[in-house]
Amino acid sequence: MARTSGWNTTAAIVTGAACALAGAALAGYLLSGRRPKKRTKIIEMMDELQKENVHIRDPERVEKLLCQLIQDGKSKLQIITDFDMTLSRFSINGKRCATCHNVLENSSLVPESKKQILDELRDTYYPIEINAKMTIEEKIPFMMEWWTKAQSAIVACNFRREDLTRAVRESNAMLRDGCDWQFHTLHEHSVPMLIFSAGIGDILEEIIKQHSQMYANMRVVSNYMDFNHDGMLVGFKGDLVHTYNKNEGALRNSDYFTTLKERRNIILMGDSMGDLRMADGVPNMQHILKIGFLNDNIEERLEKYKEAYDIVLVSDDTMDVPNAIMKKIL
Ligand code: TMP
Ligand code: MG
Repeated sequence: MARTSGWNTTAAIVTGAACALAGAALAGYLLSGRRPKKRTKIIEMMDELQKENVHIRDPERVEKLLCQLIQDGKSKLQIITDFDMTLSRFSINGKRCATCHNVLENSSLVPESKKQILDELRDTYYPIEINAKMTIEEKIPFMMEWWTKAQSAIVACNFRREDLTRAVRESNAMLRDGCDWQFHTLHEHSVPMLIFSAGIGDILEEIIKQHSQMYANMRVVSNYMDFNHDGMLVGFKGDLVHTYNKNEGALRNSDYFTTLKERRNIILMGDSMGDLRMADGVPNMQHILKIGFLNDNIEERLEKYKEAYDIVLVSDDTMDVPNAIMKKIL
């Protein structure tokens, strides 16, 4: 008693908590008859990776990758990420959040007749996009049709450049929790981030500006709108990017990757099988950690996602896992 009387309250609380933990560990040991397992690996020590919605098919490979990324550090790192349903949130309180295209579709600026066309297109083609039984090659012609028809319908709405701000503000498009920290931190550590999106470049930039900030280390490859001198939308610029031709877009952007050729380690984030090809143009790639968000059609697709992505995050509306990994590297 005499020894404890001199402790301050904080120390007592901390020690009490530690004792409670030790007590729980001892109880576990006595009940199971086994020594509590010592966590020695990085993937075991990261609490974010212990959650039930985190699926890792090959923990040994992920452990090795993490060790390599951490050892090489931030000067060797670059991030390549999808936007819709990867940086942007899939749902909130059970309700789907808007993709870039949905921002326009749902806007009060779009006449009912065009809304109906865009809704019908989505109902026809989205099930194909996420179909677990079709191959990417089989899906490509349908994706071309979807994007081409949707772009024509959007152009026919007579949008003006200044309408976009309002359309985004009125929408429920938002970023995953933790994106703001991630953007800010990657910028602070000068780690380049390529946002590779089959959405609409102007809209995704506006979503990022309204919910976080566009930083100088970010580069966007996407479908950008073409406005005439009066600020009226007249078409889309450049080659069309859809969900399953990002490999071609990646190769077209090989100049960007060449300027970053010392950054041989990649963290790739996506929510579709098409996103796995976003790093195709990276020369001398050394290590790539692929993190996949599986948002929809989960049971049918989980096995395929686990084969393709190193870490699969099921129904996770946060950036907790990528951020925890980045924290270790930066
Ligand atoms: P991405 O996330 O692979 O870049 O793809 C963009 C998403 O946009 C894709 O999941 C389908 C969606 N989309 C719509 O919601 N409405 C549309 O009209 C089109 C063409 C695409
Ligand atoms: Mg996506």
